Amino acid sequence: MLAGGDLLASEIASQTEHAQYGGVVPEVASRSHLTQIQPLIERALAAAHLKIGQVDAFAATSGPGLATSLMIGASVAKGLAIGLGRPFLAVNHLEGHLLSPFFGKEVRASVGLVVSGGHTLLVELESVGRYRVLGQTQDDAAGECFDKVGKLLGLPYPGGPHVNRLADAGDATRFDFPRSMMHSGDFHFSFSGLKTAVRYTLPKVTLDDQTLRDLCASFQEAVIEVLVRKTIAAAKAMGKRVIGVGGGVSCNTHLRKKLREACESESIELLIADPKLCTDNAAMIAFVAAEKLRLGESSPLTTDINPNLPLVA
Ligand code: KG4
Ligand code: ZN
Repeated sequence: MLAGGDLLASEIASQTEHAQYGGVVPEVASRSHLTQIQPLIERALAAAHLKIGQVDAFAATSGPGLATSLMIGASVAKGLAIGLGRPFLAVNHLEGHLLSPFFGKEVRASVGLVVSGGHTLLVELESVGRYRVLGQTQDDAAGECFDKVGKLLGLPYPGGPHVNRLADAGDATRFDFPRSMMHSGDFHFSFSGLKTAVRYTLPKVTLDDQTLRDLCASFQEAVIEVLVRKTIAAAKAMGKRVIGVGGGVSCNTHLRKKLREACESESIELLIADPKLCTDNAAMIAFVAAEKLRLGESSPLTTDINPNLPLVA
């Protein structure tokens, strides 16, 4: 919940039950959405000290994502908008991540890196709603790659944060993993070969504690080197002096450090989403909705969800 640029409440109903299956199970997710959404709204209202009638507009993610989960969020937001006679806003999940580095600030012309479990995108951002996709992953998303490698290494789901923690005490030079598409001359990415390289390395080593840390560090370094190089190259090619970074993988402490160093040496201003706004959250969706409302935009109630909704139509 937002008022002006201020965050009044941000509640998350984490679905930890997916961990036992090693990934998100759509059926479990939608059932859980159904039972959790009303208590979640009540918790957010209580935290913000608001009554539902005081809310000016209702927004929900319309995609991309799991159809049955999107449907529940959109139906509830539309129902509240109709019942209370307020605007409804359908928000693109990727736009939430893209604008999250600007949360509570003015959205500025920049190059945006969105790195999440489902997406890896480089975007030229002119202003709210004016985006051009410069490049994206051709196979696995960066977060997906972290999670798949985590699984190969026997780490809990999602693997990203665990790989990050173990890599902190590892030697990133011990294993020489591929930097796929680093010199492809475009802004696309590919991470599935890297995951395969880790798989082929595993039978050749004894997976003691230090080897596990070294594998994590070497793998993480390979992902991050490509992300940082391509993001800086995109900003330079587009003549942008600002880089914005969002999405779950931007929680990664090593990525944050490497981006900071690279931007400093190129005199580029770096805005990385607050760690609380990196992984999926409703606050970033509310922020996009507030920016659109300010521009006089809202969505017709006939707006449908789209599990494959692109950032730019
Ligand atoms: O944005 P997000 O919450 O959901 C999607 O829209 O996909 O991103 C989740 C992804 C997961 O793949 C998770 O492993 C990754 O973000 N992630 C991390 C870290 N924290 C979360 N990856 C690497 N290092 C981290 N510290
Ligand atoms: Zn996300």
